Amino acid sequence: MEPFKYRIFVCTADKDEGKSSCVRRGSKETLAVLKEELVRRNLQFDMKAVPCGCFDLCERGPNLAVYPEGIWYSGLSKDKVADFVETQLVKGKRFEPCACDEDELKNFFEKRKIRKMAETRQR
Ligand code: FES
Repeated sequence: MEPFKYRIFVCTADKDEGKSSCVRRGSKETLAVLKEELVRRNLQFDMKAVPCGCFDLCERGPNLAVYPEGIWYSGLSKDKVADFVETQLVKGKRFEPCACDEDELKNFFEKRKIRKMAETRQR
């Protein structure tokens, strides 16, 4: 049995100096504000926001994912958290300003996989 209506996984991964990462793009602040907003709305017993590792979308951060829906969000900065909570977590609708397009994501990861496979063959 799933004890939470939603689990929100917020990437708090960091990368080497000079590389983009969710932490450098404000994900820890997003997670902190999200937790505060859940408490403020008394949703903290139905929804759990937790840190997680890299989604491989580092340049788009802060990234997070909402399960069980499996909706990924990018660029969800702390100033967008209240609207995100109201739209996605309260009303159960995609928060379109930051919702990732599933087809675009599939294409992104497929192209990257093909590129990585090609790089591996060249070695
Ligand atoms: S650091 Fe967050 S997606 Fe990579």
